[in-house]
Amino acid sequence: MKWIINFILLMIFFLTAASVNAQQSGEVSDAAKKEYAKSCASCHGKDGKGNSGMTKMLKVDISALNLTDDATSNKSDDELIKTTQDGHNKMPAYKGKISDKIIAEIAAYIKTLK
Ligand code: HEC
Repeated sequence: MKWIINFILLMIFFLTAASVNAQQSGEVSDAAKKEYAKSCASCHGKDGKGNSGMTKMLKVDISALNLTDDATSNKSDDELIKTTQDGHNKMPAYKGKISDKIIAEIAAYIKTLK
């Protein structure tokens, strides 16, 4: 009987360890990817390289919309989160429109597009 209890405790241990790992590696939820596609891709492109069709309308260079170049990739997640929350020049502010948690995940997602 005792081994069954030990076995169950061991399983609980592994399951907890696995879920902690998933959170620490900054895994991006489907909700965050969907939010990017809905709110960001129109300007930054589905692949993050920038939507060239928007450059004329926004009067910006394609490099401003490209989130996969070094200029963006070299920035910390915190910087990307701040720009997304507060906006910058033609970049709209999303504070209060998208939850802090999802914005943080989108920042991590942007890095994966490189
Ligand atoms: C209306 C078009 C538009 C939309 C929609 C938009 N952006 Fe932007 N974004 C811009 C522009 C333009 C810039 C460049 C701003 C500047 O000149 O600094 C920018 C810059 C950024 C930067 C800074 C890049 C860097 O190198 O510092 C981040 C991060 C970013 N956007 C993320 C997002 C996210 C996340 C979303 C969706 C929630 C989003 N953007 C939606 C237009 C847009």
